[in-house]
Amino acid sequence: MSRIFGALKGALSGLLSTLSKILSTGYVFTWDFGLTFINLVTPNKKSRIGTLSDGESLWPPYVPPQEGDSRCSCPALNAMANHGILPHDGRNIKFTELSKLIHETYNFAPSFCYFVPNYAADFLGRDYKTDTMDLNDLDVHNCIEHDASLTRWDAKKSPDQSKPALELVHALLANATGDGGKTLTVEDLSRFTAIRRAHSKATNGQFTLSSNSKFFGSSNSGTLVLFFGGKVDDLKIFLTEERLPERWESTVRSRTGMTMALFNITAAKIESGIAGAKTHVE
Ligand code: HEM
Repeated sequence: MSRIFGALKGALSGLLSTLSKILSTGYVFTWDFGLTFINLVTPNKKSRIGTLSDGESLWPPYVPPQEGDSRCSCPALNAMANHGILPHDGRNIKFTELSKLIHETYNFAPSFCYFVPNYAADFLGRDYKTDTMDLNDLDVHNCIEHDASLTRWDAKKSPDQSKPALELVHALLANATGDGGKTLTVEDLSRFTAIRRAHSKATNGQFTLSSNSKFFGSSNSGTLVLFFGGKVDDLKIFLTEERLPERWESTVRSRTGMTMALFNITAAKIESGIAGAKTHVE
């Protein structure tokens, strides 16, 4: 009898937890649509670059990672730590603080800034509201980190995902076609991703790429055009040194920031371009 009660209790708590996840996801998407609407009817934020005096920067100084610092597969979070926007050692970061600082640095909407760190807390088995993480905790394979990335070799070849694969970054930027090769476009991202996926599939015996990972891949790469305007000069600094370029500010100026609804449109464009892109494995 007690076994039956135990099983029933387990099933009920599983059901409640699934239900609460569905409700919370529904809430975030509704919130996100609300923010998208606010962006449509309110003026953009003014650029702060013009208010700076000579030599002044919007960001604390860049200090490359030191021995023992924690870094991860995400250039954007590493850059925040390298500038001391996140703790420079990349450790004991509160998920709630990460949400706030991503919004302030890149101007992602609060809905995204809650959703992704909350997703990370979930796959790490931690509490979003009270717990902390180190940057390298994010590199759990096939949670967000995945094969065939644009700036890292696959985890099988490069188990330490904390540093950029410079050869890949240079190849990515050399593949830019916009503005006479000065700007990386959505089409460039589709083409380069298609090549990376074909190459990884052919050379990595443990290659995996779920639909979720594909979506994360195209979302991550979409940030390069959305938040950096695809500018090759800026991306070279951002992706090789994981540094925010001198006098850089996010190209997203909307009042509440880039919402998931708009962000996903770019990710979908990149993903749909991949199927038709030519690949050749060198
Ligand atoms: C919200 C918190 C964030 C988390 C937890 C996160 C996590 C990650 C992870 C785990 C990866 C590795 C994926 C792979 O294997 O390629 C990644 C890659 C990346 N992320 Fe983030 N990220 C976050 C925010 C951001 C932001 C705010 C930006 C830019 C504005 C960004 C831009 C990128 C880029 C460009 C890549 C490289 C993609 C590639 O190499 O293919 N991320 N991120």
